[in-house]
Amino acid sequence: MRVLISGAGIAGNTLAWFLAKTGARVVIVEKSQSILPHGQSVDVKDDALTVIKKMGLMDQVLRFNTTEQGTQFIGDKGQPLARFPLRKGYASSPTSEFEILRGDLAMILHEAASRLSGVEYMFGTTIQDVISNDDDTVKVSLSNGEVHEFDLLVAADGQWSKIRKQCFPAKDVNAVDVGMYAAYYTVPRLPSDNDWWNVYLGLGSRLISTRPDPHGNIRAMFTRVPRCKVQENMWLEASRSGRGEQGELLRKEFADAGWQASRLLDAMDQAPDFYFHRIQQIKMSNWSNSRVVCVGDAAYCPSPLTGEGTPLAITGAYVLAAELSKLDEGEHPAKALEAYESTFRPFVDEGQKIPSILPAMMHPESSWARYFYHTILWALSRVLVVPGLAIKSSDIDGHDSKFPWSKWDL
Ligand SMILES: Cc1cc2nc3c(=O)[nH]c(=O)nc-3n(C[C@H](O)[C@H](O)[C@H](O)COP(=O)(O)OP(=O)(O)OC[C@H]3O[C@@H](n4cnc5c(N)ncnc54)[C@H](O)[C@@H]3O)c2cc1C
Ligand SMILES: *[C@@H]1O[C@H](CO)[C@@H](O)[C@H](O)[C@H]1NC(C)=O
Ligand SMILES: *[C@@H]1O[C@H](CO)[C@@H](O)[C@H](O)[C@H]1NC(C)=O
Repeated sequence: MRVLISGAGIAGNTLAWFLAKTGARVVIVEKSQSILPHGQSVDVKDDALTVIKKMGLMDQVLRFNTTEQGTQFIGDKGQPLARFPLRKGYASSPTSEFEILRGDLAMILHEAASRLSGVEYMFGTTIQDVISNDDDTVKVSLSNGEVHEFDLLVAADGQWSKIRKQCFPAKDVNAVDVGMYAAYYTVPRLPSDNDWWNVYLGLGSRLISTRPDPHGNIRAMFTRVPRCKVQENMWLEASRSGRGEQGELLRKEFADAGWQASRLLDAMDQAPDFYFHRIQQIKMSNWSNSRVVCVGDAAYCPSPLTGEGTPLAITGAYVLAAELSKLDEGEHPAKALEAYESTFRPFVDEGQKIPSILPAMMHPESSWARYFYHTILWALSRVLVVPGLAIKSSDIDGHDSKFPWSKWDL
């Protein structure tokens, strides 16, 4: 089988690895000139860990851990108010045992896939046009002018997938607004920085956080839940414009937020990896159309509020590859694409659930509301350390998994 994948992110690289293992010939086109090192810490958990183990990459993932010791909510003066230290085997902290930077994970997956024969990467290349998609083949033209035919085209080009836009009617794709905006970037580390995820609830529905990375820096994140139409329009406008306007808005809106706001904002213009986005979930009524199929954020972006973007991209890529590997030589992929969707959709529905109070709780408007949430968090932090009340994290050997692993021998 000849497969063209658009996007060398988490989903694209994972899929390429499994497809090459089953003898497919894979071409990956990636818009940027190299694997993007951008992004914050992401969780690899539950069934995604099992997939990483199948790939033999567990040691690498551990080696690139972000060194984060836990999560703490902090007050105006930087003092910890509620601490949730990481405890092995317990779901006692928003910090997981397997925190890794999105960029490091993408690089590990890419290096593994590029070592296999049958995988070819084309960086700085995109798909210009999907010329035809029928019973026989899918035919595309690339940005370098070449025209090629494949048996399958996979859109793994993220939340704003261009392939999805070209191959699926708009009515079948729902981009659900979460009402939240985020900006991330890398900041040079100071001796006073710690290895915690420091979460500061600024007033006026603004959140600032910093997290350690394993490369000697820290990663800053700003999130905002606009409270009125005027604010909403400003943020929406910025999300559609360039880095200059986005930085300006961030500076204006967060300058008086307190804690480390000024230091972090001062470092913004030097950051190599500024990333700003409107937070949305993607919901498609059908993930495939003849020989084109979507995977990862392109098909079912759950948003960073769920912490499921990376796990769903990894497990989704695995299920897709496993189903494709069951096809006979030369068979149309429809059967595999339907099986991928029917098996995996329940896991996506589960992963896309956002606790409805979460965005508001993390973005209190008034000092009264902030005091209230801080009190709850403080109480929770005391409860979770009581022996017997601590919640066990899901079994990392996958014994309590609902995933139908036995369906596949991959
Ligand atoms: C730069 C970046 C930073 C991120 N930071 C965070 C973060 O801090 N926290 C978080 O929870 N999630 C973050 N995400 C999203 C996270 O990576 C995904 O939720 C998850 O890992 C699913 O991965 P994916 O492979 O489906 O999509 P992605 O990881 O988004 O990968 C998509 C890939 O497709 C490429 N691409 C895009 N358009 C085209 C095109 N037209 N042609 C070819 N290639 C294209 C992109 O360059 C990228 O390499 C980030 C994504 C990106 C791209
Ligand atoms: C996490 O990373 C640190 C430094 O980068 C390393 O010393 C440590 O051994 C890693 N942890 C694991 C479990 O591999
Ligand atoms: C999705 O589309 C494919 C082909 O375009 C079709 O075979 C399949 O039945 C559709 N699935 C649903 C749930 O509509």
